[in-house]
Amino acid sequence: MRKPIMAGNWKMNKTAHEGVELVREMMDDLTPIASVERVFCPTFLAVPDVSRAVEGTDLGVGAQNLYFEASGAYTGEVSPEMVREFCDYVIIGHSERREYFGETDKGVNRKIKAALDVGLTPIVCVGETRELREQGKTESWVRDQVVAALDGLTAEQVASLIMAYEPIWAIGTGLAATPADAEEVCGGVVRATIAELYDRATADAVRIQYGGSVSPANAYEIMSQPNVDGGLVGGASLKASDFVTIVRETARAKGLS
Ligand code: 13P
Repeated sequence: MRKPIMAGNWKMNKTAHEGVELVREMMDDLTPIASVERVFCPTFLAVPDVSRAVEGTDLGVGAQNLYFEASGAYTGEVSPEMVREFCDYVIIGHSERREYFGETDKGVNRKIKAALDVGLTPIVCVGETRELREQGKTESWVRDQVVAALDGLTAEQVASLIMAYEPIWAIGTGLAATPADAEEVCGGVVRATIAELYDRATADAVRIQYGGSVSPANAYEIMSQPNVDGGLVGGASLKASDFVTIVRETARAKGLS
């Protein structure tokens, strides 16, 4: 059985000081829910302090990005090894990075390989815009993103990473995908594509998160879907009680509490 994983993507929110406060607020409630993998993804500058704050617990820390080169003259960038010093996970190819910072499928693929090379677990984001959905192109778009992201990876590497289906129209809008839509894309597109590219066992091993307006109110229904193995949570991960409730609901939805 795949262990559910709930990650909070803090995006460009919380100073290092505020991030540690937030973690401290949640820690006692989150530590007992060991059936769900729980991960905080703060900004780079908050990562070291947050990682120290969770030391001695099984709470994980992830970065929101990295650069694929190992070192050198890349002003403003952070290398895989630098991320690895403090993190176990890294979000790659978030739609905000694709939209505002020009990230391409090719770059995303290079970043995934670089992350795997240093032992980080990539959380690879894919998802369609509202226009694409309305044009009935969700399946082909997401499929193409998955194919491009995984290009050249071994089955073993793919089995170890995490995919996140984040429909762009659902991010930060309060309009989450319906549980059925989340299931359809996570299972019928992302997992199905991996089965087609690799094999059934690899596809069954990959954990696939849903992201986009996950909240305490909708977490149970969405996380109850068999092909949804957790969530990538933005806004609601910035509020301690909301994130704790979402993690609890996930454990309940998977019959683990
Ligand atoms: P929201 O939960 O705020 O919609 O953000 C989702 C997201 O983009 C997580 O990466």
